[in-house]
This record gives sequence, C-alpha cells and structure tokens, in this order.
Amino acid sequence: MSAVAKLAAEHLPTHRLPDEGLDPELTRQLITAELYLDSEPMRNLATFVTTWMEPDAQRLIAENNHRNFIDHAEYPQTAEIEQRCIRIIADLFNAPGKTTGCRTQGSSEAIMLGALNLKWKWKERQEAASKPTDKPNLIFGGDVHVVWDKFCRYFDVEPRIVPLSDGKYTIDADDVKPFIDENTIGVAAVVGTTFTGHADDVEGINDMLVELKNSGGPDVPLHIDGASGGFVWPFLYPQEKWDFRLEQVRSINASGHKFGLVFPGVGWLVFREEDDLCKDLVFMENYLGKEDATFTLNFSTGSSMLLAQYYQFVRLGRSGYSGVMHLMQANANELASRIKATGYFDLIDEGNPQLPLVAFKLNKDYGFDEFDIAGSLSARRGWMVPAYTLPPNAEDVTVLRALVKETFTYTMVEALAADIEEACTTLMETGGLHELQRKHLVKTNPAI
Ligand SMILES: Cc1ncc(COP(=O)(O)O)c(C=O)c1O
Repeated sequence: MSAVAKLAAEHLPTHRLPDEGLDPELTRQLITAELYLDSEPMRNLATFVTTWMEPDAQRLIAENNHRNFIDHAEYPQTAEIEQRCIRIIADLFNAPGKTTGCRTQGSSEAIMLGALNLKWKWKERQEAASKPTDKPNLIFGGDVHVVWDKFCRYFDVEPRIVPLSDGKYTIDADDVKPFIDENTIGVAAVVGTTFTGHADDVEGINDMLVELKNSGGPDVPLHIDGASGGFVWPFLYPQEKWDFRLEQVRSINASGHKFGLVFPGVGWLVFREEDDLCKDLVFMENYLGKEDATFTLNFSTGSSMLLAQYYQFVRLGRSGYSGVMHLMQANANELASRIKATGYFDLIDEGNPQLPLVAFKLNKDYGFDEFDIAGSLSARRGWMVPAYTLPPNAEDVTVLRALVKETFTYTMVEALAADIEEACTTLMETGGLHELQRKHLVKTNPAI
C-alpha cells in the first residue's frame, strides 16, 4: 500500500493507546492532515496571539524545546535571559529603579500572581493595623478579560465590577471611587481591552487614588492589565501615562505572545520595585541543584518561548517594535476607513488610543445583524471575524472585531473590506441567516 493510501486508510486512536505505533513520517502526515480541519491562523482575525514568526526565530524555538525553564541550576544562562527580559520590559514600562518580576505562561498566570500579590499585600497592611482580613474585594470594570472574574472566584475575593453602559466601554476615576473601602486589595485597569481595544483612564484613576491616600484614605494599589497594550502603548502612544510613571501603579502584566510578537505561551509580570512583591509568595527550593526562588503557579515548562521573546528584543530593538506597531496601525486605520466607507457601520470610540484592530457595529437595523455578517464572512472566505455582545450594562450592543497583525497585509485589508461590503449587500437581499443556520454556525464556528 502506498504511503498516501495508507494515510487515507488509517484510523487514528481516539480512546486508547494503540497496541503498535506508526512510523514517524506517516504519524506527522496524519496529524498534519487532521489539522487542515482547523481554521487557517492567517485568516483568524479573532485572536490577539502571534501567528507568525520569522524562520530564525522558529529555528531557535525548535532547537530549545528540550530545555526545562524551571531548572535554573542546570540552565543558568536561560535563567539569566529571563532576568534580562524582565529588566528590558520594566525599563519599557518606565520602572523607576531596581525591580523584579517573572516569566509566566501568559497574562492569565501573570494576573493570578499579580492579584494574589495584591491580596497578600493588603493582608499585611490590615494585620499591621489590627484590622480584619476576611472580606477582601477587588475593583475592575466590566471591560476586563474573564481571567479577573476567575481570580476572584478561585481565590475567594469579592469582585466589585464597574458596569459599562451604551457608548462607554472603559472605566474612569468617577466610576471606581464609590467602590473603594478599606477592604479593597487593589484596582485593576486595562490598557487595550479585549472587547474594543481601548484603555481605561489609568491616569485619572491613579490621580484619584493618590488623592485618596494623601487625604488619609486607604493606600490602594493599581495593577495594569497590559496583556495586549503593554507592548503597543510604549510605541504608538509614548506620551500617554499608563505605566510606572504613575505613582499607584505597582504591577503590570503583559502577554509576550500577543503584541510581544512571540508564539504562545509566554507572559510577563513586572513589579514597580522589589518591595512591591510580597515575600511570603516566594518559595525557596533546593532539589534542582542549588537553592532557588520560585514565584509561579506553573513549575516545569519549556524555555523556547522565553528565548523567542529575547530573540525579538535583540532582533527588533525599539525601532523594530515601533515599525511593526506602526505598520499594523496603518493597516488597521485603512481597514477602519474602508469599513466606514461602506456606509453600514459605526466605528467604536473612533480616534481614541486603541490596539491595532477595528471594532465596529451596524449603524442601524438593516434586517440582519453582526452575527449574520460574521457567519457570511466565515462562509465566504474563511475569515474569522468574531461578533459578540459587550459586557453588562452594554449587553445590547453587538460588535464585530478584526485584529490587524503583522501578516495582515494591505492586500488582505482590501479583500476583507470588499468581502464585508459584499456580505452586507447580499444580506440586504436575502435577509439574515435562518435561525437554524445561525444556531449551527454559532455551535460550530468559534469565531462567531
Ligand atoms: C486584556 C486581557 N487580559 C488578559 C488576557 C489573558 O491573556 P493570556 O491569553 O495571555 O492568558 C487577555 C487575552 O486576550 C486579554 O485580552
């Protein structure tokens, strides 16, 4: 039987370990063939995560998958490279002096650790003042990623969620202030929200917290969720203050695997100063060859993505990152103006600092909705442009969102804009998808 015929005839194991194995090439081909059933990452405009790296970076990744990141004693140079990355990121975020931080699997782990640190620091403050420590609360807007709600549930903290409203999709000082009391472990503000790509009013929130502290109120730290914005704002909006230039900003997370331009999974948590990390959260272990400090939720993990992050820092430098961010922004702007020119859409919060993406919604009732457009785009050319409703109390607003990444070229901008217009023209004639079709699409297509 030819290799191709064998490939077509194989039934891959789905429930139990097979008695015999296959040869390596056939195994790879079979798995690769199955992956054709997945969506094409280059047309995935739903994801914030990096889908392309240049060949030398890919080689570095492939050559270092066998290096366990946590074995600091065995791989001290890898550990040194982690420290370099932390210093580089802290400098990018304008840390005033000696700082500390860690590499994580992504922003979710970084946020869990950062928020745990807020909780422990608050506990220290309360205990020092002989105050109760049983009712911690954390304040954030409805515009945060689900990981913040997860943290609150997993680690028993009351979430105090500032609701959004129709037309207001980020939060500011006036929104936050009424929620603060002495049990507030911190405020989390987002730079580059998942929903529309904008930033909370970090400077305003900081100023309010400074005033509160200086007038005898609680000293409430601010954590910035820069999962996406952490690597965008320093290059596209260097004048905007959102980072350690602001007094109450004590910790920041960023996803290396989003606009840090590395494949998944690498993330970062950086503290303003060494003292901002609660020492009780750092564990010492000595079973890997030397005494070592660990501050992570994971233990063993690969080194490749950390090395790939360092590769990008060395390879691109400030000018390279700036060039990539401006390229993405230019193509996002082009896509935005073409989408607007169709006449069907409003852009969300046009003109405000934003991630390189386009968030848009229909400007009136055309007899079809954003979910119909997402379905048509997917059927038309495999575009994954998600449609979703915004969080409470803006849940009546449905938006479409297209991320514009490094590989999303001007030609693709033209093609997508044309497809969006054509989808609308067709939907004007046919009306929205049938309810059953829509149900099926929602069930089978994660982009919708
Ligand atoms: C604002 C924000 N915070 C946190 C996360 C979670 O990040 P990660 O996927 O790196 O765990 C995301 C993911 O999209 C995000 O957009």
